[in-house]
Amino acid sequence: MREHLDPVLESTPTDGRKLYQTYDFDEETVRLAYHYEVDPEFFITITGGEWNTYSSCIWEDGFTMTQAQEKKLDKYAELMRLKPGDRIMDVGCGWGGPLVYFCHKYGAIGHGITVSPMAIPVAEARAEKYGADATFEVIHWQNLPEVETYQAIFTDEVIVHFEDLGGFFAKCHSMLTPGGMMVNKELHFTHSSHKDWADSLSQHINKVYAFTGNYRTLSEELRLLDENNFRIKNVYEIAMDHYRKTIDDGWLKNMRDHKERLLEVTTAEHYDDFRKYLKCSLFGFRKGAFGMHIIASEKMS
Ligand SMILES: C[S@@+](CC[C@H](N)C(=O)[O-])C[C@H]1O[C@@H](n2cnc3c(N)ncnc32)[C@H](O)[C@@H]1O
Repeated sequence: MREHLDPVLESTPTDGRKLYQTYDFDEETVRLAYHYEVDPEFFITITGGEWNTYSSCIWEDGFTMTQAQEKKLDKYAELMRLKPGDRIMDVGCGWGGPLVYFCHKYGAIGHGITVSPMAIPVAEARAEKYGADATFEVIHWQNLPEVETYQAIFTDEVIVHFEDLGGFFAKCHSMLTPGGMMVNKELHFTHSSHKDWADSLSQHINKVYAFTGNYRTLSEELRLLDENNFRIKNVYEIAMDHYRKTIDDGWLKNMRDHKERLLEVTTAEHYDDFRKYLKCSLFGFRKGAFGMHIIASEKMS
């Protein structure tokens, strides 16, 4: 199952849990595979709902997981100023849920990219189920052609993996049509000193991410947008309690309820590591280490 990926951790950086690690292209891809290249049923089962978003939802009293996923996605559509016929790109498209939702509900024409090939058949089947005009491709964002194509580009909890975030913004600038929108959601450290944390909980989160989690502060992300000629249109804060609920009432509950089946698609060690990583994340939220924002910005010429 996952044994072939274990050597990834043998070369784990050992100087504390330093963030902003730089890897060559191949090593980064293998490291990302450590987290994402598992049987898709693992993530589909844990995330649940109709859209299987592996990212925080936005909750209201009495919401189901599907409603909470859609509430977040509708916020994205508003921030992207989405209208029928718009060409949009989802960078880090997971298992296709968000892109298919936008194409199905808002009439967009979508292209999703990922570095995780096992997710592609699931995304394509979802597009077919909804008759959505959405295509999917395995490609690292650095290899995307620099052609003005899209009215909107978005990411949801993906840029944490990008060491060169400024380079990513420059790439998006080159792919957006004039006045196009870029919308990114991510957790942000509430203080820059948090990146030096070396406690065992942070170490565990880093291990599960194979040391590809480059959390930043909000101010750093805003500065990089400015430097890459994006005009900030909205910084929409989502209270961390929405993430707590997504993990506690959704993902951890699904892990408990479907443990037997999950252990058929992955190893007991991976199951335990993943469960512990979710619990460590909740601890970090309680400590006030993170805030969460969707940042909408517009391409300046
Ligand atoms: C936390 S998941 C989020 C998935 C999706 N956005 C969602 O909300 O359900 C991160 C995704 O980013 C993708 N990813 C990570 N690094 C990437 C890169 N350099 N280029 C393209 N996709 C990447 C992974 O393959 C995975 O699909």
